[in-house]
Amino acid sequence: MNGGSERRLIVVSNRLPFQLLEKNKKITLKESDGGLVSALKSYFDGEGSLGEVSSKWWIGSAEFPEKRWKKFTEGNKRTGAFEVDPIFVDTKVYNRYYNGFCNATLWPLFHYFPSYVEYDDNTFRAYEEVNRIFADRINAMLRPGDILWVHDYQLMLLPGMVREKHPDATIGFFLHIPFPSYELLRQLHRPWKEKIVKGLLGADLIGFHTHEYVQHFLKTVQMVTGFDHQYRSILMNDRVVKADLFPLGIDFKKFHEASNHKDVLAEKNSIRKNFNDRKIIFSVDRLDYTKGITHRLSGFERFLELHPEWREKVVFILVVVPSRQIISKYNERRKMIEEQVGRLNGKYSTLQWQPIIYRYNHLSFTELAALYEASDVGLITPLRDGMNLVAKEYVASRHDDGVLILSELAGAANEMGEAVLVNPMDNNEVAQAILTGLTMPLQDQKQKLQILQKRLVDYDVIHWVNDFLRQLEEVKEHQRTQATK
Ligand code: G6P
Repeated sequence: MNGGSERRLIVVSNRLPFQLLEKNKKITLKESDGGLVSALKSYFDGEGSLGEVSSKWWIGSAEFPEKRWKKFTEGNKRTGAFEVDPIFVDTKVYNRYYNGFCNATLWPLFHYFPSYVEYDDNTFRAYEEVNRIFADRINAMLRPGDILWVHDYQLMLLPGMVREKHPDATIGFFLHIPFPSYELLRQLHRPWKEKIVKGLLGADLIGFHTHEYVQHFLKTVQMVTGFDHQYRSILMNDRVVKADLFPLGIDFKKFHEASNHKDVLAEKNSIRKNFNDRKIIFSVDRLDYTKGITHRLSGFERFLELHPEWREKVVFILVVVPSRQIISKYNERRKMIEEQVGRLNGKYSTLQWQPIIYRYNHLSFTELAALYEASDVGLITPLRDGMNLVAKEYVASRHDDGVLILSELAGAANEMGEAVLVNPMDNNEVAQAILTGLTMPLQDQKQKLQILQKRLVDYDVIHWVNDFLRQLEEVKEHQRTQATK
C-alpha cells in the first residue's frame, strides 16, 4: 500500500459476505447470498462507476476461527473483487451484542414489536464494546481520501466513534431496517437513544429505504439532540449532515435470466410436474416474527374456508429459512408456524392433496430461482419490513405472467403499487388477495409486470450504490464550501 493519494472504499457490516468452511483439513470459501451481499458484490465485481476508487475493502465480524482464516489466506487478504479484514470478537461478548442488544432490543423496537423489547444494560455494554472494536480497527487503517460506508442497525455507534478520531473523514451510513416513529424510539433508555442518535450523526450521509423512515429519523434527531433540519439537511453546530432515501434495488439480470441455466430450468420443470395442473402460491422468508408467517397461514386458511372450490386446485409452498435460533421469540415462532401448518394440513388434506408444502431449511440459488419461476403467485406479507427484496426478486424472475401479493407494511410497497397490496393482519383481505391473484387475467398480469420490471431495471442495485456514493461526495463538497466561507 502506498501513501495518501490512494482512495479506498471501505464497506463495514456486521457480517462478512462469506463463510469459511473446513472439511477434512480443506478450507473452502462459501459466498453468502443475502440482499446486501449480492448488492455490493455486483458493484465490487466491477459494474460500479466510482472510477477513482483504487481498492475496495470489506470489514465485518468473522463467523470462523482466526486460525482458519490465517491458514486460508496465508498473508493474502484478497477474496476476489475486494480485500477483507475480519474482526474476531470474543464469543461471549458477541452473543450479548448479537442475540442481545441487536436482535432482542433494537430489532423488535424498530419493527414495531415493543412488547418483545428486552432492556438489559449488559447487552447495551456489549453493543458499545463491539462497535468500539470495529472503530479501533477502522481508526487504525483509515487514511485521508478513504470512503467509509457503514451498514445497518448493528453498527449505529460506529460513525460517531470514527468521527471523533477523524473529523474530516467521509462516512456514509445505510439503515436496512425501518426507522420507527419517535413514539417507538422514545421507549429506549435516554442514554441509549442519545448515544445511538449521536453515533449516527457521525456520518455525513445517512440513507434509508423510504421517505417515512427519513422523516422519522429527522424528528427523532430533533427530539433527542435539539438539532433542527432544513428539508433533509440536519444543521449541527460544526457540520451539515444529510438524511435521504435510497430504496435498495436488486441485480435484475441475475434473476430475470436465471432460467437460462439448465439446472434452474430442470428444477422448475420438476416442480411443475410434481403439482400437475395445480396453481402454486409461493413464499420464502427468514424465520422471523416480523415476516407475518402465522398471519399469512391464517389468511390462506380463510381462503380455503371461503372458497372450497379451490381446494385440491392450489398448493402453498412455504419456505422458512432458519435464523437467530438461540433467541426465544424465534424458537417460539417456529413452533407456532409448525403447529399451524400441521393443523391446517390435517384439516384440509385429502388422499391426493396437501394444501401446504412446508420446508424449514436454506434454499440454494437454483432452488430459489426455480420456485420463483414455477409459482403463479408470490405471497409476501411481512408485518413490517425495511424493504423486502424477495418481492423484487419474485417480480424480476417472471416472464409474462405471475402475480405479486405484497404487504403494504413492507418498504417495497412504496415502489410496487402495481402489486396486489394487502394489510397482512387482515385474514379476509389476504384471502381476497389470494383469490384476485389466482384469477387475474393474463393480460393484466403482463401489463403490471412490465411496469414493475421496468422500475426494477431502472433502479437496480448498481444504481443504488452509485446514487448513495455520489450523494455522499456532494455532501462532502457542500461541507467543504461551507467551511471556506
Ligand atoms: C436483515 C438485516 C441484516 C441482516 C439480515 C439477516 O436483512 O437488515 O443486517 O444481516 O437481516 O440477519 P442476520 O441476523 O442473520 O444477519
